[in-house]
Amino acid sequence: MNILVTGGAGYIGSHVVKQLLEDTDYSVTIVDNLSTGSRKTLDTLRAIRDFKFVELDLKEFDKILPILEENSIDTIIHFAASIVVPESVENPLDYYMNNTVNTTNLIDKAVKVGVERFIFSSTAAVYGEPSSTPISGLDENFPTAPINPYGMSKLMSENVLKDASFAYPKFKHVAFRYFNVAGADVYYNSDNKLEPRIGQSFPNATHLIKIASECALGKREKMAIFGDDFATEDGTGVRDYIHIDDLASAHIQAIEYLKVNDSDTFNVGYGKGYSVKEVVEEVKRVTNRDFQVDNAPRRAGDPALLISNNSKIKQKMNWTPKYNNLGLICQSAYEWEKIV
Ligand SMILES: NC(=O)c1ccc[n+]([C@@H]2O[C@H](COP(=O)([O-])OP(=O)(O)OC[C@H]3O[C@@H](n4cnc5c(N)ncnc54)[C@H](O)[C@@H]3O)[C@@H](O)[C@H]2O)c1
Repeated sequence: MNILVTGGAGYIGSHVVKQLLEDTDYSVTIVDNLSTGSRKTLDTLRAIRDFKFVELDLKEFDKILPILEENSIDTIIHFAASIVVPESVENPLDYYMNNTVNTTNLIDKAVKVGVERFIFSSTAAVYGEPSSTPISGLDENFPTAPINPYGMSKLMSENVLKDASFAYPKFKHVAFRYFNVAGADVYYNSDNKLEPRIGQSFPNATHLIKIASECALGKREKMAIFGDDFATEDGTGVRDYIHIDDLASAHIQAIEYLKVNDSDTFNVGYGKGYSVKEVVEEVKRVTNRDFQVDNAPRRAGDPALLISNNSKIKQKMNWTPKYNNLGLICQSAYEWEKIV
């Protein structure tokens, strides 16, 4: 099989490429403009097994079709996107152009050359700001109501995919709605010490566990918790944190799934929530470092609770997470932060 990975030099894409190179014999082509992706990550991945890299912006519409044809691509895993929510509010058109327009062009070319499988990175942001979350978590039928251009740009792409798969049944897709992705490559060196080879490399990333790890290392002086008056047990927001390697394995399974099943949408999370306070305490515990944490006002559009119901992916894809452990998530993020 010949897989095209867009955004393969980025955080999530690189972990999926790692598993493709280690666990399959599929040939891999990466397209990335390196806007937030890392060339060093590509070098690290190349030490596992070789792949093709095309430095290209997906907005160059007419360059996509030749890449699909020349590499006989039968499967696309599409990560390339702009992902910062506040930025999407300031520059909505950039987000619709990169996330929806470029995705639509990619789908158009994929259908034209007969690509059979398309795996798409969507997000829990499509659910917006649920006023209440069922005890069992949000399932895929929970109403979608994005509250920012980022979430909307992803939901629009989901809809383009649905319509394309309906009209062209040979073109099948899986849309994954990721919850809070965290951690880094679970790799143990010859001394049996956790030493991630890849991780979140982009310096301005805003993920909570990355920021707390930066504080633990003294790269940042302090951090803020945005809102301590939510209707949650300790007042801080509760989220469903999933280890990056478990998220990545869902993509590998999706390739096999689509060989025999129809298109579908799946949540990917553990179905368990931790509060911001609990996460910060866990980073302090595993790193054995203390740091200053201030309370700041809530940010617009942050719901109190966002937890997945993951029954569907477990049942239909038989997805079995291996790293459902907040300590390991925080430890791997911290060990990576030491290196990067
Ligand atoms: N990180 C999360 O917590 C999270 C949560 C939900 C969904 N997602 C989705 O997962 C995907 C990957 O996110 P990530 O965290 O790895 O982000 P990232 O910024 O690390 O990776 C995105 C990659 O795409 C590349 N890219 C962006 N625009 C491009 C373009 N026009 N042409 C070519 N390459 C381009 C970047 O250089 C980068 O390598 C995104 O689609 C994002 O919306 C991420």
